[in-house]
Amino acid sequence: MSRLDEILERYPFVQRDNLIPILQDIQDEFGCLTEEAIVKVGKYLSLPTAKIYGLASFYHHFRFVKKGKYHIKVCNGTSCHANGNTIILNELEKSLDIKSDEITRDGNFSIEESSCMASCGYGPVISVNDRHYTNVDIEKLAEIIDYYKNMEE
Ligand code: FES
Repeated sequence: MSRLDEILERYPFVQRDNLIPILQDIQDEFGCLTEEAIVKVGKYLSLPTAKIYGLASFYHHFRFVKKGKYHIKVCNGTSCHANGNTIILNELEKSLDIKSDEITRDGNFSIEESSCMASCGYGPVISVNDRHYTNVDIEKLAEIIDYYKNMEE
């Protein structure tokens, strides 16, 4: 039995109310909602996959790609936007050669745009896993990325 089947077995009563808990369990297990998983859940609950994608996309919490070892969030709140978060995001994407919601080929880095990270007076704000960085400019961003790249060498 696959790990996906094991998750579905936790929900023996096939009810659409179970959709969110099932998706949550899948994300906890696999790190994201894969296409294979969504198709299988759709068959299990007799729901169209487009509907599942639509619902999962509504909740910012669900991801469709895995996180990298170092998951970088760039705050996209109003204050950080006013403080130039777009410059930071563009530089980050250029430096890692990936776009937001993508993961580097080596699996080390991923980028996500985030809602307000509760440090509005100190933007632009980014985080790497659980560590927050404030007042990020291009130079500071380069130092942060170098630090994590060096950890892998
Ligand atoms: S807007 Fe970025 S921390 Fe609040």
